[in-house]
Amino acid sequence: MKKIISLVLALALVLGLCSFASAEAVKKVGIAMPTQSLERWNRDGAYLQDQFKAAGYDVILTYSDNDNDKQVNDIANMLSQNVDMLIISCIDSAGLNTVLDEAAEKGIPVIAYDRMIENDAVTYYVSFDNYTVGVLQGQFVKAALDLDNAGDKVFNMEFTGGAPTDPNAFYFFNGAYDQLKEYIEKGTIKVPSGQTTMEQVGTEQWSTDTALSRAQNILGSYYADGTILDAWLCSNDSTARGVVQALDSDYAGGNAVVVTGQDGDIANLINVVDGKQTMTVYKNVANEAVVTLSVAKAILAGDEIDGAALAAAQEIECAYDTESYFSSEGHNTPSFLLVPTVVTKDNLQYLVDTGLYKWDADQKYLEAV
Ligand code: GAL
Repeated sequence: MKKIISLVLALALVLGLCSFASAEAVKKVGIAMPTQSLERWNRDGAYLQDQFKAAGYDVILTYSDNDNDKQVNDIANMLSQNVDMLIISCIDSAGLNTVLDEAAEKGIPVIAYDRMIENDAVTYYVSFDNYTVGVLQGQFVKAALDLDNAGDKVFNMEFTGGAPTDPNAFYFFNGAYDQLKEYIEKGTIKVPSGQTTMEQVGTEQWSTDTALSRAQNILGSYYADGTILDAWLCSNDSTARGVVQALDSDYAGGNAVVVTGQDGDIANLINVVDGKQTMTVYKNVANEAVVTLSVAKAILAGDEIDGAALAAAQEIECAYDTESYFSSEGHNTPSFLLVPTVVTKDNLQYLVDTGLYKWDADQKYLEAV
């Protein structure tokens, strides 16, 4: 009898230790998103939180109102709550050194999410191929204006880039500009405002209002005389909304202007259906969250990570890249890059097929699921 009691007690002790150990094993992940004022980040935050909670992690999710100082405080609070990992979409790629240096000292891994961060505490980068986003926009304008068959025709276009604090903005702009510069150099494309550098076309915080007022100034200064505008390349949807508002209020040319965007924001998809925006570059941020979870799991498990194999194991197309992104000069950051897709009024069903959008009651416009 005594043997049975001692056996039961021993078993209870082992199970207790196991449960204590498993309770200890719950890892805590800090997810820092830049803002809720730009539509996509609400989706990113929700998808990331859902994925990590479903995988059994504790999650701290913050949005920092596009204010770098606030994001520094938010991340400092995560560190004080002993997170085991940081996943950050930065507001300012050079603005997080204090907290990321602390993370490095504590050996806390950092995944740069969507936007690269200039600090060697970053262990991995998960995003889309940002340069290709721009290439798709530039190629779209080239095809829409049929530039290769322009003959002596001259087209007028303008550019609106993203936030100068966001490294993605430079990849987007350069990707697009590299597709169009030969036509600018040979005079097939003219830019009446003369603004053709990121320093000239950038938009602080990707603000719709800032894009609107700049576009109104350009239209008032260079197109009020009846000059025809043929295209306006916008690096994302929030800035495209500003440009479209300006075209509605301040452009009298009467012609349809080719307008690009990125993100598949609901308001912009309405403009796409209504012919006010011509295309958007869609990035499935739910997939971006899934890949981020895969990388995070491997890091937190202490696995030896074979990046190429991890990328190949994803159900969606994902490239493993060790050449394109750097946390500091000469310090390559292994990156997992997803593939962006061009969406126009002709393939909106593609968005519905992702399961993240649905048709409205009239089957005319898209709504978020
Ligand atoms: C970029 C992001 C884009 C764009 C912009 C504003 O970094 O990759 O999707 O929308 O921020 O959120």
